Amino acid sequence: MHAFRPPWLLMPMIAVLCSRVHSFSHAFPVHGFRQLVFCSHCQLAFAKTSGGEITDSYHGISCNMGTISVRRMLPNATILEFDIAYKLYRPSSLSSRQAAPIVALHGGPSVPSNYLLPLVRIVPYRSILFYDQLGCGTSDEPKADDGIYSVGNAVGDLEVLLKHLGVRRFHLYGQSFGGILAYEFLKRQASKEVDDGIAGEGCRSVILSSTPTNVMQIEDEARSLVEKLDSPDLFRETHQRRISPMPQALTDAYAYAGTAWRGTGAIADYKATPPSANSRKLRSALVLRGEHDFVTEVCVADWKRSLWNTPYVRERVLDGCSHHGLLENGPLYGEIVDSFFTEYD
Ligand SMILES: *[C@@H]1O[C@H](CO)[C@@H](O)[C@H](O)[C@H]1NC(C)=O
Repeated sequence: MHAFRPPWLLMPMIAVLCSRVHSFSHAFPVHGFRQLVFCSHCQLAFAKTSGGEITDSYHGISCNMGTISVRRMLPNATILEFDIAYKLYRPSSLSSRQAAPIVALHGGPSVPSNYLLPLVRIVPYRSILFYDQLGCGTSDEPKADDGIYSVGNAVGDLEVLLKHLGVRRFHLYGQSFGGILAYEFLKRQASKEVDDGIAGEGCRSVILSSTPTNVMQIEDEARSLVEKLDSPDLFRETHQRRISPMPQALTDAYAYAGTAWRGTGAIADYKATPPSANSRKLRSALVLRGEHDFVTEVCVADWKRSLWNTPYVRERVLDGCSHHGLLENGPLYGEIVDSFFTEYD
């Protein structure tokens, strides 16, 4: 092994997933990854995270992985740096003019992007960028000191990531809390006096999937649905995930979920507010939710009614689905996501 110098040693930020899984013969701790493993048969390196096992579901689809660093200033002016890990599938299509890449934002907060990876299969040709937001998955999880976690900080991290990777023209996709993050990102971009290129040519359109406008309202709504069914388990089977057993993608996401800044409790006060009067126009949006979703009609109504500063918000209800349409009915979901984005390529 010592005599062998595969090219990936020179490019530790890039790993390729091989199409055939063979035994992993070596494991090395490498900066930027928790661990790299090497498939001796295929002569390829794989990234293996501290939590994440490599599963073979996406093998055969090329992927660049790496980390970027983000900063936080504590109240006493101390600056700390943390790593955020990303995966970019089909990297060679990142600058495609025919089919702009998708930037995918996971929910929770702190339920990492594992459960969104099936997007790669159901949108079969676009480049798709996933990252784990600070506090979960393969990214760092600092404890929740003042100044570390907030929606605003998470928007800043997304800006850093896009700049770092040179993602200039893309569609934004957010699931659940990820949609809140997407909205706040668009709002911040639209409020900038000087277009920094991320908003202008940058974001083409956005999908908010099962994203509520108001956290207190969604909590009330969920509580009343639980009461009607008389059981939290039945609530989950009816309004959160109508597919059994739990898909591996979701099992993985929960296994590597963060605890420092987790769930609706972390954003209990969040209520979306409209962009300021002098903001530029927000990008066109598609608001999705499942027919049985605990994110009910009233929970999404304000996106169209009062929050967007254009009339270009479409709504779509996914028949037979609840909160995880992507996992519950992949073909339907993929067709809707891809055809919406195609309109705005
Ligand atoms: C600033 O605050 C952090 C966390 O509260 C603490 O660990 C650090 O020592 C402080 N630094 C200074 C210079 O006071």
